[in-house]
Amino acid sequence: MANIVENIKRLKKEKNAIILAHYYQIPEIQDIADYVGDSLNLAQKAKETKERLILFCGVHFMGETAKILNPEKKVIIPDKEAGCSLADSCQYDEFKSFKEKYPNHIVISYVNCSAKIKTLSDIICTSGNALQIVNSIPKDKKIIFAPDKNLGGYINRVTGRDMVLYHGTCEVHEQLTAEYTLKMKKEYPNAVLIAHPECNDAVLKLADYIGSTKGMIEFVKKSDKKQFLVATESGILHKLQNDNPDKEFLVVTNSESCACNDCRYMKLNTMEKVLNSLEKETYEIKLDAETIVKARKPIEKMLEISKNLGIIK
Ligand code: 13P
Ligand code: SF4
Repeated sequence: MANIVENIKRLKKEKNAIILAHYYQIPEIQDIADYVGDSLNLAQKAKETKERLILFCGVHFMGETAKILNPEKKVIIPDKEAGCSLADSCQYDEFKSFKEKYPNHIVISYVNCSAKIKTLSDIICTSGNALQIVNSIPKDKKIIFAPDKNLGGYINRVTGRDMVLYHGTCEVHEQLTAEYTLKMKKEYPNAVLIAHPECNDAVLKLADYIGSTKGMIEFVKKSDKKQFLVATESGILHKLQNDNPDKEFLVVTNSESCACNDCRYMKLNTMEKVLNSLEKETYEIKLDAETIVKARKPIEKMLEISKNLGIIK
């Protein structure tokens, strides 16, 4: 492994590359990355980067977002099969027909969607700013929220709005059950339950805190509690444990022993693939110019609102 790490560091310099990684990546990748973040911060970082080459360790839609914000740069991902069940649950033709059923609606799409879906959207949001983005739209305006029905449903409940929800879900979060989460809560009665808003309604109702990966990391840091039940993808534990060596973290699963909280797409990326990716400059994210122009507008709008509201600097 030491050899791989050294080679990655050397190639990064030689090729003027930056490695961006999501909190759901394996610990080794988070450790070698120049920047680790949630979807919102990664999009912002991707926009500001000065390097020639961006190696995005996450999933395909994240690489696409980086490319859309940096059309002149080369964006590569370690494994071209690293997709996303949520993004896949919203296909272009179906969503276009869905949108046509609701004229005069503003389309807010969660960043976990393809570049093509972004071209059909007015504003993008992430779990780190969804609430504020929705609140920035006047109350009398109608909204379609896509593709995650769980995040959309959560925002509807918090804001009292009645957004039309598309029916997409993330397979990792959707499979968690209130039944098993309650069982874990009983087993660890002093633990604080933190959950990602991609979890279903029944699980979210049991949570003490709901937020994006970064939101959860910040919440735990500030908390004086010592034990946490974590309802999201397992990769986040690396950062949580590093930041809080005195606290204990248990991933919420849906049965006695399962690896169901490992996102099968996020976990396709390995250190060997990161090295290979840098060596060969593969797999390149390619998008046509029209898609880039159309998809960029709603992402820029999100970044602009987030800056104005002080959510990002
Ligand atoms: P955030 O990092 O924005 O919370 O996103 C979670 C996610 O599902 C990424 O795939
Ligand atoms: Fe997609 Fe869910 Fe995996 Fe995130 S955790 S990449 S939303 S399948």
